Amino acid sequence: MRTSILGTGHYLPERVVTNHELSELMDTSDEWIRQRTGIEERRFVDFDKEPMGASELGARAAKEALSNAGISKDEVDLIIYATLSPDKHFPGDGVLVQAKLEIPPGVPALDIRNQCSGFLYGLSVADAFIRSGTYQRILLIGSEVHSTGLDFSDRGRDVSVIFGDGAAAVVLGPTNEDGCGVLSVHLHADGRYADVLQIPYPSSAQMPRATPEKIAEGLHWPVMEGRQVFKHASVRMPEVVLEALKQNNIAAEEIDLLIPHQANLRISEMVQKRLKLRDDQVFNNIQKYGNTTACSIPLALHEAISEGKLKRGDLLCLAAFGAGFTWGSALIRY
Ligand code: ACO
Repeated sequence: MRTSILGTGHYLPERVVTNHELSELMDTSDEWIRQRTGIEERRFVDFDKEPMGASELGARAAKEALSNAGISKDEVDLIIYATLSPDKHFPGDGVLVQAKLEIPPGVPALDIRNQCSGFLYGLSVADAFIRSGTYQRILLIGSEVHSTGLDFSDRGRDVSVIFGDGAAAVVLGPTNEDGCGVLSVHLHADGRYADVLQIPYPSSAQMPRATPEKIAEGLHWPVMEGRQVFKHASVRMPEVVLEALKQNNIAAEEIDLLIPHQANLRISEMVQKRLKLRDDQVFNNIQKYGNTTACSIPLALHEAISEGKLKRGDLLCLAAFGAGFTWGSALIRY
């Protein structure tokens, strides 16, 4: 028994924000952003027209995934929800999605806090539950609203030009089809780098947790040592893909599609080069959406399927790296 992807869905805010628009808010340029990251535009929730948090985006993506999978909300027996931008500190967005979609009371909802690797951490949990026979229909969601948490002054420009809003979801279930489904998932973390990419504040390690002075200092904005992240991501992602290939005795040229977490186009290109993959073996869409963290892999997956770039029976590889540091990979016979 293995875990199969029964259906995917997505939700993107309609508002497109170009690099030019960001350059009106801070000292940056379309040229700088394209050259360093590959990003041309991203989506932001339009708070004037339709304000919403990550749980609403996630609920909309989940609805489409359920419909594409032909699964009713009443059949879902576990919700797993990955985000770094939840609506509230607690409870987690998983229960908010449950209520919005009217998934029956009593169905468990699990929240995952592993940033860019959140989808793969969630997939590993779902896969273990399905293979053990505990749950049959799992809704796995990755959703982010970054735009409300970015510093659009010059100080935050290195981080703020990278991220975008969006949500995507998959419905997972068991399959007995020979050789199909999730072949393996590989997870890693290294907490020595926890400070390299973080939002340090508000913090339960401080009394009181939040003060107007500390907010005025801007301690609640994300901070990142970009070069460190870049360096580690471009080594760890190929490494963890090779780990998955080795475990399954598969060569890199057999991969039909690699979906790397969309952190930075240059990181994806580095991963492709290190694995010696052809252009048609790698899917990137960061140009249109920026880095959507937990949403990035399922969003790319949904697009690849919709565009016919991933077909049933293809060998799919997923790889992620993000804050923590956390990283991981999965090999799936789709
Ligand atoms: N516009 C214009 N100039 C900028 C901007 C900006 N948005 N941001 C920084 N700069 C400036 C810097 O101030 C610096 O100026 P200086 O030389 O006068 O000091 C100069 O550009 C170069 O800055 P670096 O940080 O050295 O630029 P780098 O080439 O490393 O690119 C970047 C920065 C794009 C953040 C890169 O390091 C990167 O992509 N790192 C990976 C980070 C990442 O992907 N994070 C995503 C989240 S984690 C994840 O998903 C893996």
